Amino acid sequence: MAKTLFLVASLLLLGNVSFLHASFPPSLIEDLAKIVMNNYCSPEKLVGMKEDIAAATSNTEVLNIPDGELLADVLSNGVQTTVSDPRLTVSYEPNYVPAVHPEMPPLPPEQLITILQSTIKLDILEGNIGYLRIDHIIGEEVAEKVGALLVDLVWNKILPTSALIFDLRYTSSGDISGIPYIISYFTEVEPVIHIDSIYDRPSNTTTKLMSMSTLLGERYSVTKPLIVLTSKNTKGISEDVAYCFQNLKRATIVGEKTAGGSVKVDKLKVGDTDFYVTLPTAKSINPITGSTWELTGVTPDVEVSAEDALATAIRIINLRAQVPSIIEESAILIANNYAFESVGADVAEKLRELLANGEFSSVVCKESLETKLSADLKTLSGDKSLQTATNTPALPPMEYSPEMYIELIKISFHTDVFENNIGYLRFDMFGDFEEVKPIAQIIVEHIWNKVVNTNAMIIDLRNNLGGPTTAIAGFCSYFFDGDKEILLDKLYDRSSGTTTELRTLDELTGARYGSKKSLIILTSKATASAAEEFVYIMKKLGRAMIIGETTAGGSHPPKVFPVGESNIFLSIPTVHSETSAGPAWEGVAVNLVSEYAVPSSQNN
Ligand SMILES: *[C@@H]1O[C@H](CO)[C@@H](O)[C@H](O)[C@H]1NC(C)=O
Repeated sequence: MAKTLFLVASLLLLGNVSFLHASFPPSLIEDLAKIVMNNYCSPEKLVGMKEDIAAATSNTEVLNIPDGELLADVLSNGVQTTVSDPRLTVSYEPNYVPAVHPEMPPLPPEQLITILQSTIKLDILEGNIGYLRIDHIIGEEVAEKVGALLVDLVWNKILPTSALIFDLRYTSSGDISGIPYIISYFTEVEPVIHIDSIYDRPSNTTTKLMSMSTLLGERYSVTKPLIVLTSKNTKGISEDVAYCFQNLKRATIVGEKTAGGSVKVDKLKVGDTDFYVTLPTAKSINPITGSTWELTGVTPDVEVSAEDALATAIRIINLRAQVPSIIEESAILIANNYAFESVGADVAEKLRELLANGEFSSVVCKESLETKLSADLKTLSGDKSLQTATNTPALPPMEYSPEMYIELIKISFHTDVFENNIGYLRFDMFGDFEEVKPIAQIIVEHIWNKVVNTNAMIIDLRNNLGGPTTAIAGFCSYFFDGDKEILLDKLYDRSSGTTTELRTLDELTGARYGSKKSLIILTSKATASAAEEFVYIMKKLGRAMIIGETTAGGSHPPKVFPVGESNIFLSIPTVHSETSAGPAWEGVAVNLVSEYAVPSSQNN
C-alpha cells in the first residue's frame, strides 16, 4: 500500500517544487499503514502491506507537503486506491475532539417521549396499513431504557395493522446491537434464526446475530406483509436490516439501491499527529448469501425512485390483499369448467394449498401474479392451455371485398399436383365455420378444385396452429361419401355438461374427395388445437395415414373467464373429445402410425 501512497504523492509533488522542509513526523505513513492493517475490516485485501511499509519508511518525500489538509487528501487517495475502498479516508483536523458517548442520563419520561417522537414517525394509513419511519436504529443499551415506552407509544399501535411499511429511506445511522431486535419482531419465536455474522477486525472475532426468543410486547404476525422502503441515503445498519429481511424473504424492499456503507466505521488518530483515519472496522457476512451489501448496496426487489417508493408499497399491499380471493375464484373456475373434472378438482385443491403455504405472498404487481399463476397452473395440470390470458376485445370483423378474399385465400393455402397426380394441400390455421361459410365458394374455386381430381392427397398440417373447431365436421366431410352419415367425434363440454356429436355434413360446397382415395396427413410438433382434432378423427376412423412428428398436445380452443373483478383472466380448456379412457389427444398429443421427419425438400 505504501508504495502506492508514495507514487500518488510523487506525481503531485512534480508540480510543487517549492516545498523544502519536512513538516510532518517521518513515522506518519508507517503509523497510518499500521492502523489500516490492524483495523480495516477485510484484512485479506491488505496482503503484502508489511513489505510496503518497510519500503515506505525509508522514503519521506511525500511529507514535504506543507499543508495538512492537502497531505490528508493525497494520503486518502493513496489508501483508497490501494485497498479499492472509498470508505477509507484520511483527514487533518487539528481541532477535532473525539465524541464521547456518556452513559445515558436517566431522563424524565416526558423528555424521552419528545426524543422518541423526533426520530420515529408513526402513521396508520388507509386500509389499516401501518407506516413506521425510524431515522436512527437504536442499540441494545438505549432499547433497554426506552423499550417499555416504545412498546406503549409506538409498537402497540402498529400491532393491529394488517400490513406495515417500514421506512428506512432516511436512516443513515444506527447500532449493530439493534439489528436482532428489529428482525425478531417480524419473525417467529421458534426456531431461532441466524440473522447475520459480524466480523470485527480489531478484536479479530466473529459474532453471530441470532433472533431473540424473548421480546417486550408481541411480534408482528409473519403472514402480514412487510415492505421496507430504501433510498440511496439508506446507509449502514439500516442497509443490514433491509438486506437481512430481504434474504429471510420476510420483507419486500422497495425504492432505490442503498448507499453501500458499513456496519461499523471508526475514526482513529494517527500517532501523535492531527491526522485521523476513518475506516470500516467491522463487516457483515450474511449467512444466507455468504456475501454482503457493503460497498455495493442493497438492490431493492422493486426498484423505483425514493419519492415513488411509498405509493408503490401501498399498491403492492393492496394487491396482496386481493390475492386470496383471486386464487379462490380461480380455483372455483377451474374446478367447475376444466374439461376433465377430476384434473380440475385436483388443480383447484393444489392451488389453494399453494396459497396457504404463502407461495403468492411475494407478488409485487399484477403482471408478476399472472406470470406465477400461469406457471403454477401449467405445472399442476400438465396442460399448457390452462393459463392466464389477456382479455383483448375481439376486433370488429373486417369488411373484405371479394377481390381481397381471393388474395387472402391465395396466400393462406398452398396447392400443388405432384407426379402420378398426387395432390398437395397446405394451410396453417382453421377458420370459424360461420366465417368460412360465405367464402366457401371462393375457396372451392381457387383452391379445392386444383386438388380435388387427384388420385391421392397429401394434407400438410406441419405449420397448422389450429383455431376454432367449428369447421372441422365440414372439412372432414369432404373425405367421406355423401350417402352415409358418419359419427366423427363426441365433444363433451364441461361448462354446460353437454355432449355434442360431431357428424359428417350431407351438403357441401363443391365436390367431395370421397372415402376411397389415399390420404396422407403431415404433422409436426407445432401442429396444434383444431388441427390435432382433425388428425385425431382421421386417424381414429382409419381414413388417413399420419406421417411426421408427434403433435403439440394442445387442447380444444379454451374459453376465457374473468376472475372476479380482478381484471385477471383465465384461459380454461372446457371441451374434450369423449373417449372411454382419459384424454384423446388433449395435452398428450396424437400417437402416430409412423413417426419420422419428412425431408424439408418435400415441403412446397
Ligand atoms: C484472527 O484469528 C484467527 C484464528 O481465529 C487467526 O488464524 C488469524 O491469524 C487472526 N488474524 C489476525 C490478523 O490476527
